[in-house]
Amino acid sequence: MPVCAIAHPSLALVKYWGKAEGGINVPAVPSLALTLEGLSTQTRVEEDERDRVFLDGVETQDPKILTFLDRFRQVTGSNCHFRVETRNDFPTAAGLASSSSGFAALAAALWLLVHGSEAEPRQLSRLARLGSGSACRSVYGGWTAWEAGAEEAVPLFSREYWPEVRVLALLVEEGPKPLGSRDAMELCRRTSPYFPAWVADGPGLWQRARHALERQDWEELGHCTRLSYLRMFATMLGADPPVLYWKPNSLRLLVLAEQLRAQGLAVFETMDAGPQVKLLCLEPDLPAVLQFLRSEVSDLRWMEARPGSGVRAWYCD
Ligand code: PMV
Repeated sequence: MPVCAIAHPSLALVKYWGKAEGGINVPAVPSLALTLEGLSTQTRVEEDERDRVFLDGVETQDPKILTFLDRFRQVTGSNCHFRVETRNDFPTAAGLASSSSGFAALAAALWLLVHGSEAEPRQLSRLARLGSGSACRSVYGGWTAWEAGAEEAVPLFSREYWPEVRVLALLVEEGPKPLGSRDAMELCRRTSPYFPAWVADGPGLWQRARHALERQDWEELGHCTRLSYLRMFATMLGADPPVLYWKPNSLRLLVLAEQLRAQGLAVFETMDAGPQVKLLCLEPDLPAVLQFLRSEVSDLRWMEARPGSGVRAWYCD
C-alpha cells in the first residue's frame, strides 16, 4: 500500500554552512533551527519496477533524490525500487529550505513503506541527513539543535514552547538558485579565507543563541540570528569565484527590517542559499510589521509561518 508523508522546512537561526571532512553531510559547525508550519512538502511513495521521481507533478532525474534512494537501499538493506511523488506548497530550490522538508518527508515515507512501522525519530534524523543536511532537523517539530560532527539532530523545545514566534518568508525571486547549497558550501570550504574563521566562531555563537532561546530572550536570539546569516554570507563573498545569492530586492528588505527596528519593533531577518528574506517577529508585532512592508513594497509576496510539527507518515491511497 502507498505511503504518504508531510514535513515542514527547518529554518536555521544559527546556520549550518560547511561540511566536516569524511562522512555524508556531517556539519563543520553547529546549527539551531525552527521547524515551520505554514510551508509544507507532501510526498507519496510506492514500490515500482524502477526508480521514478515526480517533483511538483513533473518527472525529474534529480540526482540528489536518486542518490538518496540508493543510499536508502544501502542503509536499510532493501532491494526495492520506488515511485516518488513530491510536492511543495512553496517555491522549490529557491532558498526556502525545500530540501529539508523534502528529504524528511521522503525518509519517513520510505521507512514506513519498507519496514511497515515508523522509525525512531533519531534514526529518521540520521537517514534524512543523507539526502540533505538540514533535513535531519526537519524530522522534529519546534526548536532543534544539530551539533558539529553529529550524524543526527536533537529536539530542544516543542512547537508549544514559544507559540508567539512568527516568520514571514518574503519572496524576492522564485526561480531555482544558480548554485546549490552543497556546491556553494564546498566552494567556501576550499577557497574562502574566511571559512576557518566561520568554523572557529560557530560554537560560541551557537551557545549564545541557545542560551537566549532558553531564556526566551527575543532581542538576543534575533541578534544572534543576524550575526549568523551575515557571517555565513561573508564566507561566500570571500570564495573564489565569489557566491552572491542576494538580489537588489533582498537588500531592500534588509534595509526595511532595519527601519522596523528603528521604529522599536523587534524584527530580525535571516537568509539562506537564495535571494528570499525571512523576517522573524513575535505575534503582537505582526500587524504593524506587515502594514509597514505593504506600504513600502507594492508587490509584496509573502508566506506566513509559525512553529510547526515534525514529520508524519501514514498509509494512503
Ligand atoms: O541542507 P542543505 O544542504 O540544503 O543546506 C542548508 C544550508 C542553509 O539553509 C543555508 C543553512 C541551514 O542551516 O539550513
